[in-house]
Amino acid sequence: MQVFKTIKETRQAIKYWKKQGLTIGLVPTMGYLHEGHGSLIERCRKENDIVGVSIFVNPTQSGANEDLAKYPRDFERDSKICSDLGADFIFCPDAGEMYIDPQAYVNINTLSETLCGKSRPTHFKGVCTVVSKLFNIVSPDRAYFGEKDAQQLAIIRKMVEDLNFDVEIVGCPTVREKNGLAKSSRNVYLSDDERKASLCISKAIKKGLNVIHSGIESSEVIDTMEAIINSEPLAKIDYISVVDAKTMQPVEKIQKDVLVAMAVYVGKTRLIDNFSYSI
Ligand code: PAJ
Repeated sequence: MQVFKTIKETRQAIKYWKKQGLTIGLVPTMGYLHEGHGSLIERCRKENDIVGVSIFVNPTQSGANEDLAKYPRDFERDSKICSDLGADFIFCPDAGEMYIDPQAYVNINTLSETLCGKSRPTHFKGVCTVVSKLFNIVSPDRAYFGEKDAQQLAIIRKMVEDLNFDVEIVGCPTVREKNGLAKSSRNVYLSDDERKASLCISKAIKKGLNVIHSGIESSEVIDTMEAIINSEPLAKIDYISVVDAKTMQPVEKIQKDVLVAMAVYVGKTRLIDNFSYSI
């Protein structure tokens, strides 16, 4: 497995592989890898000749009140995971390699204004910008994203469609711990008590899946889920929303495919989760 820190050496290797007719798969990450990332790398391994994992804690997607320096990092461990899963290269630039006085950004309008975009207004602009840059640097045939970040996945699909990126976006199911908690790099921030408290999120999802049916009012689903989260003293709801699966706009009644998404603070840690319901 090769480790590339610069754009130049990455492009050289990609050029060489493409000349041989090999297909390239890319798994963009911010590192501190867990089984959720692992499932994306495994899927990428199955479907491509060359597997690349990018590890870059992207400064443009974190808000002013989010401490980037505190984002968990462990390159040695990440590198072993990538190598064990058969990755061919890691692209791990530093911030100075990726951004030199940037003036150009990629933004998605309506889709990024609901759900997480409401509480993190500049977040998806940063995501779209860095993912565009990664696509331009690696030129992947396929790129892999998790359904856990369902809004991010929908936004990237729309960005690729609107800007004609020549890449297939592959969505992968959410990987959970046995107790139901969605795997996340942020779970390390949780104390033992907060970990137990965070189970209210998957409980709410289970209940939501039980009550949802075609024709039901969204508010009924939301109320049921809110009651479960609100009964947990350490949890505080940022949002629970029922939105159109494609446009991410709120729907009042379940009459088409929807995404039921939420963000919940457990202590100071903001956790997101969701489920999809198809008619
Ligand atoms: P990061 O949070 O590191 O996640 C990298 C990828 O792993 C994303 O596509 C995310 O949806 C997926 N992922 C995370 N937890 C998962 C889980 N439990 N099951 C399945 N997939 C999971 O998302 C980002 O980084 C960044 O925004 C990025 C796209 C890299 C741009 O900076």
